[in-house]
Amino acid sequence: MKLKFDYNNMMVDAIGDKGICPCVFDKKAQSISDAYNKVMTGRGKGWQEWADLPYVSDEYLDEMISYCSAVREKADSFVVFGIGGSALGPLAVASALIHLHHNELPKEVRKAPKLYVEDNVDPERMKALLDVIDLKTAYFNVVTKSGETSETLSQFLILYALLKKELGEEEAKKHIIVTTTIGKGTLYNVAEKEGFKIYGVGAGVGGRFSVLCPVGLITFAVLGLDIKKMLRGAAVMADVSANADIRKNPALLTAFLQYESMQKGYNVSVLMPYADSLKYMADFYCQIWGESLGKAVDLDGKTVYVGQTPAKALGVTDQHSQVQLYTEGPFDKVVTFLAVENYRDTVVITDDRDVNACDFLKGHTLNELINAERKATEFALRKAQRANFTITLPVVDEETVGELLMYFMYETAFAGALMNIDTFNQPGVEEGKKATFAMLGRAGYEQKMEEINGAEKKSEYII
Ligand code: PA5
Repeated sequence: MKLKFDYNNMMVDAIGDKGICPCVFDKKAQSISDAYNKVMTGRGKGWQEWADLPYVSDEYLDEMISYCSAVREKADSFVVFGIGGSALGPLAVASALIHLHHNELPKEVRKAPKLYVEDNVDPERMKALLDVIDLKTAYFNVVTKSGETSETLSQFLILYALLKKELGEEEAKKHIIVTTTIGKGTLYNVAEKEGFKIYGVGAGVGGRFSVLCPVGLITFAVLGLDIKKMLRGAAVMADVSANADIRKNPALLTAFLQYESMQKGYNVSVLMPYADSLKYMADFYCQIWGESLGKAVDLDGKTVYVGQTPAKALGVTDQHSQVQLYTEGPFDKVVTFLAVENYRDTVVITDDRDVNACDFLKGHTLNELINAERKATEFALRKAQRANFTITLPVVDEETVGELLMYFMYETAFAGALMNIDTFNQPGVEEGKKATFAMLGRAGYEQKMEEINGAEKKSEYII
């Protein structure tokens, strides 16, 4: 394993009575082992099909790489239409691995199309996208596991009509990839009929656990990233996550520490990467942690209203924004730092002899500065008895990102098992989707519309 996990600052030894006693590992050994066994026995089955994603065949990947390489040659822009799990993984991973200003680079330098991950239906955003892409050289991955999501279907309808008008029907079809559940859903049926290139999302791979299937892999392969290396990294973490010894299994360990922290009222979990490349990893984490663990009922049908509110922060930027709250506000947060040992670039702070007042900075690098600031924040939090732990990536590359993604998936699965909830459903999201169908007049949702109309709003409460 390339990632390193330091959980000192979660423990009583470092943060006193606000921390966790090492004795709980023995005291709660049974619950830990039950949660571990539950996840392990479920691997590859039901909604845990994501656990098998690192092991797809080379043949399958080779076909994908070859198709996507051809797209890379032709495309000046590559657009992902999707939302939630269908967008956040592609965005987080691509942002981690491509140039931070990829789209602004000339094509000879970026060697791949510009990337746009469009996960909203704000009309201004759609218009803005259409203002900057050229349909003749733009290629699209329309991603929706269910094939039913209103946002993604709308994006597809708008785009396909425009493409046909601009390029003619036959050529338009060649610009669209559809990633969805094979044999199921509205988009699959349309894609089959129209003859689009289709990639499948496994029946037991939920949106927020789907980044390592074509939902993410297509985008990464189009960008020329090494998807085999990424899956190798994910496989390493899958192996480590199968270790029954909690002290050698970081996903089980931190899931347990988070679970114990929730019992102490730590209801907020902050992910704070100290790297712009990992900024959107925090968005990915917010979804997988929030949507998986925020549940009203447990597996015994008991009302529990559990979950830990995920929050995102960026180091060092948010040191000058949220860290005041983390250090002195309520004792309700666990902060996870993502550290990077070796940034891909080194920038020296110019040693300008004429500006004497800045002597302490001269000759150092921004690399030293950002890492010093991370350690300083970690120290300040520890001093204020604030729970935190650090995950260090030696470098941000396909392999370490693969490890990190798999770690988040297993950590979430173990946490859900400890909490005795259904980690993989999202009834709260589904309710909103159905209400949207009703409001737009979709057949079969008439009763839902009546229910919505019944939710009266009093004018006296509107000013
Ligand atoms: O994690 C999930 O299951 C959700 O966030 C979905 O990804 C999101 O609602 C989009 O669904 P779909 O991929 O079916 O369009």
